[in-house]
Amino acid sequence: MAGEIKKQRASWSGKWAFILAAAASAVGLGNMWRFPYLAAKYGGGTFLLTYVVLVFTFGVSLLLLETALGRKTGQSAIGAFKAFGKKYAFIGILASAVPFIITPYYCIIGGWVTKYTAAYLVNGPEALADGGDFFTGFITSNAESYIWMLVFMAIVFVIVGLGVKGGIEKANLFMMPALIIMAVAIAIYTLTMPGAVEGALYYLTPDFSKFSPELVIGALGQMFYSLSLAMGIMITYGSYMRKQDSLTSSVVRIGGFDLGVSFIAGLLIVSAAFVAMGSGDAVAAKAGPSLMFVTLPTVFVDMGGMATIIGFLFFLLVLFAALTSAISLMETVVSIVIDKFHVKRAVACIIVFIGMMLLALPSSLGNGVWSHIQILGMDFLTFFDFISNSVIMPIVALLTCIFIGYVVKTQLVVDEVKSSSKFSREKLFVVVIKYIAPIFIVAILVSSVLSGLGIITI
Ligand code: PHE
Repeated sequence: MAGEIKKQRASWSGKWAFILAAAASAVGLGNMWRFPYLAAKYGGGTFLLTYVVLVFTFGVSLLLLETALGRKTGQSAIGAFKAFGKKYAFIGILASAVPFIITPYYCIIGGWVTKYTAAYLVNGPEALADGGDFFTGFITSNAESYIWMLVFMAIVFVIVGLGVKGGIEKANLFMMPALIIMAVAIAIYTLTMPGAVEGALYYLTPDFSKFSPELVIGALGQMFYSLSLAMGIMITYGSYMRKQDSLTSSVVRIGGFDLGVSFIAGLLIVSAAFVAMGSGDAVAAKAGPSLMFVTLPTVFVDMGGMATIIGFLFFLLVLFAALTSAISLMETVVSIVIDKFHVKRAVACIIVFIGMMLLALPSSLGNGVWSHIQILGMDFLTFFDFISNSVIMPIVALLTCIFIGYVVKTQLVVDEVKSSSKFSREKLFVVVIKYIAPIFIVAILVSSVLSGLGIITI
């Protein structure tokens, strides 16, 4: 029976397909607007340095843990934890709840990006550079923004519906290199604008006076989200991996790739925003969507003849990043439905599509007709973002570290890693999982809940 199930499971066609898919999941909206804004806020180079250290210690260790757990058990999150006893299944269930919460609102923002990509060609760059009316008008438009979300979701479904090898791998193979080329090209072009080099210097030069506990916590939270950790995705992706492929070199490449894209996105966006606003603090103050949807169009419009093409390419770049992440979210949900109900992929996709359409309604209308409804002082979209990123994900990460560190013991992961490669950082891995990660994760959890509730600011 077990053999039969294994045979039916999807799998990657090779190590590179896995690395590309995990990197594609990691590189997303988080890299494109959250990372640049945090870097601007926390003194540029200081934040960059901290982030690099965190990715190559924590990030890579946690990636390794999740992928090894997936490969060892050959199961998605719920099955992976359940494999060690029914009473542990709840950790997997909690992890799996995260993509169900994130996917709907991620697709809404994906819809905004799709709209902007099209709008550069249809409405032109001037229409978008009106200081925010276009953006506000659009996101509060109810039906229109919902329809653009459906367009984005439909693209994701076609790709996920085509399967792991036929859909996801092929889409990644095209979109990821295209994304890198566009990011580098736009960054270089932006740096030729007057004032942009100052922005780049601000971004790159460390300002150690801005180093603080908040910076570390902000960087850690960003790292979790950016590497798609603590939501079952990497467990699922690990379960599709072949036994002979090295886990250690794969996770280092995934971490490095994600970091590289964040770095370029930061360079591009901070430099461009600097052109419009003239100081790092002003850029940092523009947190959230308005930096991308309101400020950048005002920079692009000054590029004259190049405005349409640069604006279009920029949003296409963000669209590809969002699509590849949304694909990984949807694939995780679809694979849970397949495992649980033993249905065909096509049937699972249809069930999930309908479910997501409904789940997305509150977050979509929460900017429009339902804006009067608030939960803990947040609109629906902000609330779902808060509850998943600031509450459930840290809890899942903490439980996972405790489970691996103290219940099944790190040796299990170490053996799985060693079955396919050398493990030169074994000691570091064990120390991070057993001691350092749990302490830091509790710090993230406490501070992000307090800041979400408006008690402190991060
Ligand atoms: N890692 C993605 C990003 O940086 C976000 C994401 C979260 C993707 C959860 C998949 C799952 O935007």
